Order: sequence, then C-alpha cells, then structure tokens
Amino acid sequence: MHSISVKEFLLWKKNQLSKGGDLQSLYFLIDCLGGIKATNLNFSSLNHDGKLYLKKNLDFLESIWEEHLIEFTPIQYLCGFAFWRDLKLTVTDKVLIPRSETEIIVDIVFKLFEKKSKQFLFAELGTGSGAISIALALACPLWVGIATDIDPDALKIAYKNYKKFSNLSNLRFSCGHWWEPFQSYKGKIDLAISNPPYIPKNTYEKLPKEVKNFEPKIALLGGEDGLKHIREIIQKAPLYLREKGWLILENHFDQGGKIKQLLIKNGFTSVEIVKDLSGIGRFTIGRYK
Ligand SMILES: C[S@@+](CC[C@H](N)C(=O)[O-])C[C@H]1O[C@@H](n2cnc3c(N)ncnc32)[C@H](O)[C@@H]1O
Repeated sequence: MHSISVKEFLLWKKNQLSKGGDLQSLYFLIDCLGGIKATNLNFSSLNHDGKLYLKKNLDFLESIWEEHLIEFTPIQYLCGFAFWRDLKLTVTDKVLIPRSETEIIVDIVFKLFEKKSKQFLFAELGTGSGAISIALALACPLWVGIATDIDPDALKIAYKNYKKFSNLSNLRFSCGHWWEPFQSYKGKIDLAISNPPYIPKNTYEKLPKEVKNFEPKIALLGGEDGLKHIREIIQKAPLYLREKGWLILENHFDQGGKIKQLLIKNGFTSVEIVKDLSGIGRFTIGRYK
C-alpha cells in the first residue's frame, strides 16, 4: 500500500484533470487500480488532514491516465475491468466494453419472464465479455444458458468472468457463427438474445478514435447498412426457438422500424420496439408465433 496525504492526493487529482479527460474516468482508474471507491473520494467524506492508502503509487496511476489521454485508449482496457449492472467484468481488447444501455436487456427479460423459478433455456448470440448471460445466469440459477461467440478469445474472457461470480454450471459457452452452435437445440430455445454488430459501414468509418482504434471491429461493424447480421439472426431464429419463444435484439438508434418489419415478415408476433433510458428505440423484441 502507498500512503499519501489527502492534500497531496487532491492536488494530484486537480493536476490530472487539468490535462484533460473527465472526473468519472479518473475515479474509475483510482477505483480499479488504486483500490479506492469514488464514494470515498467525495470532498465531504475526506478528512483533509488525513491519509489515503493506494494499491499503486501516484506516478503509476498518472502514467495510465496519460496513456488514456494521449492514445485515446479506453480507461476500461487500461484497467482491465468494466462495471456493468452490479458486475465488475474483466475486459481486454478482444471484447466490446459492455455499454450501460445494454443493461436494460436484462430488465426486458425479467419483465417478459416473471417466474425465475422454472426451468428455462436461453441463448445468447455474440456474448463478448459475457455480461448479459452472466447477469441472467446469476439471477436465475434454475435457468440454463448457452453463450456463444465467433471469437474464441472473447469466449475465454466470458468464461473467466462467469467463473469469477459463480460456482454453478448453468451457463455454457460455445464458439461459432450465430446459430451454428445451436444445431442440437432446434425448436428448444425459450429465449434468444443478441446485441450483434449493427453499425453501418459509413458510420463505422467515422466512429471516435477511442472506439474505432481499440474495440474489436468484428463486434461493431454490421455490413453496408448495419443490418447484415440482424437479418441472418432473424431469418434463422424460427428454426431454433420453441413455439412462442422470444427473440430480443439490440439495434442502432434508427433501426427499430426496419427490424420490426423483418420480424413480422419472418412470422414473429407481439413485435415491439423498446426504448432505452434516453428514449431511443434501442431494442426490438418479438415472439415466434
Ligand atoms: C456488439 S458485441 C456484443 C457483446 C456483448 N454481448 C455485449 O452486449 O456487450 C457483438 C459480439 O458478437 C460477436 N460476433 C460477431 N460476429 C459474429 C458471428 N458471425 N457469430 C457469432 N458471434 C459474432 C463479436 O465477437 C462480439 O463479441
């Protein structure tokens, strides 16, 4: 542990923020690598004549902060963690940093399926860090989930994250292209979820550096119009879903209407666009007949 006076720390913090960046990211760094939670750094909760104990010294934290500012490296990749719902997930540049808007998928699931106590099979296509599947598997120990990804390195991270939080084995992992790992589950899946790559090519080219230069292209790019993967997932879903099984998709801010039509065209009912907390139609859901 590195002991420093609160006065020295406050001066250091002011100095770091004068170089750029935002307080939230700096606190993220101090929490993940320094070991002090943001709530303990509030001006009012600090004893200004006291001391703070950090896991890493200020020079080390400063070097990470500067890398974040100069190279545009996301602070989550530099720290190796992302906070998502109540989970502290390991992340590397092999996985998308799970976004806060995606947290709502878990709430949508619990609205659709109130009874967490019955047996149930869910599938996640493109699990990345494992965030969605792990949250569901932890909240519903009787449910069985299968989380897949095309990238074996991403699956290793997802598996590591699951094992960090659970001693159970109600979440399995399988590598492959969209529905391909589900060959033996045809007609058996109660719920399929996917936050697939949905960024249209033109938009992808103009993404901010911190996204485009660091997050996996395979997790973001959805072909020319952004709907390449979503089309494939919807078209094949009827083969794998149980009768009245649900499909939940995350989509780009303006894709809801088109996805709704695609779902209807492929035999889905109860099709609905669900808004995120900013009022954007971020999710499209439907039930197979
Ligand atoms: C937008 S990320 C979502 C990650 C995670 N579910 C989340 O919400 O944070 C899309 C994920 O789909 C995976 N993926 C891309 N193409 C795929 C394919 N053809 N088959 C299966 N997974 C794929 C990527 O590797 C990536 O992990």
